[in-house]
Amino acid sequence: MSNKIKKLLLKKDKQKIVSLTAYSKNIAQILDKYCDIILVGDSMANVLYNMKDTNQITIDHIIQHTISVRQGVKNSLLVVDMPRKTCKNLIKAKKNAKMILNKTKCDAVKVESNNKNFNIIKGLVKSNIPVMGHIGYTPQFKKKFKVEGKNKIEENKLIKEACLIEKAGAFSIVLECITPSVAKKITSILKIPTIGIGSSKYCDGQILVTDDILGMSGFYPKFVKRYVNVNTIIEKAVKKYSKEIKNRIFPNKKNFLYGK
Ligand code: KIV
Repeated sequence: MSNKIKKLLLKKDKQKIVSLTAYSKNIAQILDKYCDIILVGDSMANVLYNMKDTNQITIDHIIQHTISVRQGVKNSLLVVDMPRKTCKNLIKAKKNAKMILNKTKCDAVKVESNNKNFNIIKGLVKSNIPVMGHIGYTPQFKKKFKVEGKNKIEENKLIKEACLIEKAGAFSIVLECITPSVAKKITSILKIPTIGIGSSKYCDGQILVTDDILGMSGFYPKFVKRYVNVNTIIEKAVKKYSKEIKNRIFPNKKNFLYGK
């Protein structure tokens, strides 16, 4: 187990774990100062590519963005989403995870659960590939958004799923849009850290999509807090740039590389 993962496990019950997504170097190098985990998420499907769902993201998209993100990450644990098609069976999952690790030098992969693919997590971990699990609302397998854990049947199903993922060897697990009481129970039962998104404060850490907290994505459900409106700041700068060119203010002599 790598030192970064050991450090993360030690935070359980002691310090909250901070995570965000990144798809490029410039953002990643800012996040790296504050995040324990940086995830190259397949959420890039919606955020960057306007695709209809995350299953349109290919291994090439994931590798290319991770190569960029890797340039900005020195301290955080760099986790990469395995697209659904790359994990159809254990043989494919191993081949693809190894390719992602070799080409990107990421630290771990994340596998969304369909409540059946525990053998894939187990097989990857056996091959020394660190895996993060993901339960609750898992966009690769669920078309319709729904908060999970609202009744006893769902609660038991989620707890069992989380325990099986831990047993399969995952080092951590994302809980997406799970009720506070079930997130709390899972967090207290598991020995590995839980990372919540839309799953209340009762998790060992939190993750959000960076473009959402920066006000760039246009996606602001209740569980997202928008910390700044970067779109407005960018627009202001671009408007000024455009105006200065049209009014012949930029470039001026200070910007000339040679002569006057
Ligand atoms: O793809 C992603 O960004 C994710 C997070 C939202 C957990 O899976």
